[in-house]
Amino acid sequence: MNAHEELNATVQAMVQQGKGILAADESAPTIAKRFKAIALESTEGNRRAYRSLILGTKGLGEFVSSVILFEETLLQRNDDGIALPELAARQGIVPGVKVDAGKIPLALAPGDEITQGLDGLAKRLEGYKKAGARFAKWRAVYNVSAALPSCAAIDANAHALARYAAICQEQGVVPIVEPEVLIDGDHSIERCAEVAEEVLHEVFNALFRQRVVLECIVLKPSMVVPGKEHARQATPAEVAAQTLRVLRRCVPAAVASINFLSGGQTPAQATANLDAMNRCGAQPWPLSFSYGRALLDPALKAWGGRVAQVHAGQAALLARTRLNGAACLGRYTATMEATP
Ligand code: 13P
Repeated sequence: MNAHEELNATVQAMVQQGKGILAADESAPTIAKRFKAIALESTEGNRRAYRSLILGTKGLGEFVSSVILFEETLLQRNDDGIALPELAARQGIVPGVKVDAGKIPLALAPGDEITQGLDGLAKRLEGYKKAGARFAKWRAVYNVSAALPSCAAIDANAHALARYAAICQEQGVVPIVEPEVLIDGDHSIERCAEVAEEVLHEVFNALFRQRVVLECIVLKPSMVVPGKEHARQATPAEVAAQTLRVLRRCVPAAVASINFLSGGQTPAQATANLDAMNRCGAQPWPLSFSYGRALLDPALKAWGGRVAQVHAGQAALLARTRLNGAACLGRYTATMEATP
């Protein structure tokens, strides 16, 4: 297969009705934070146990088409000696990998951040592909205030996202393009919409300039929501209306799929908001999920690092993926939360 055929085959496997993406790619500092919440140390063994639990969940492939892994996970094996990406692939789940190297402060732009990791990326992708990865993820973050993000941050992050996407496509790896407008702060939903619109326009302009094939990317945006500290939180109908307005203005119809991040929403909020969007009628693209915390927090809590609780953790993960599968079809109701 040439790179283009590879891209098409992978996109087709990733984009399936009623299914979404599981983001199990917490970086070293992030997984340490998640484990701390359940009083577990972040050792290689504990991370391996956790990722084995996730990828060994029977039935996960019913609602999950693909899983984003952290680099370390690509080379880990479960207790039966099966490589973890292979464990996913056996359930029909496409394995992918987070390839950015995290964010640092953007020079001369106080409060803004830039994502690094472009140097040597093409070479690294060769290794990731050998380990089974068929797609990649790169996350850009945008802090919000009255003055942030600056034009400098919007330009620089769009350029990096587009360069990353071009490098991936040249290697036959589908890029997930993730511009995250952060939920932190007390800004209104209108301010979030304003920032999201600027960010997305710039991202698609840069993707065009770098000759990225839009049919072979997955966009992973944040939803348009008020800041966490804002006095008035929004209903799912409001989030859906604001988010769809921005996406329809900025995202070309050629984009293969839009899979939202959860970004600090509670699991139930993330599901209800996705469901509300899918009740708004047909859109130019499928609208699905690529959640980390909103899928994995309940599983982490149920597991708690205890061997005896592995099945409880897997059941919690499966329950959450089922609810989000329903939300992809606009068939979720809050009463389903109570049904085991
Ligand atoms: P959350 O859904 O927890 O925001 O994580 C998604 C993700 O992949 C962040 O990069």
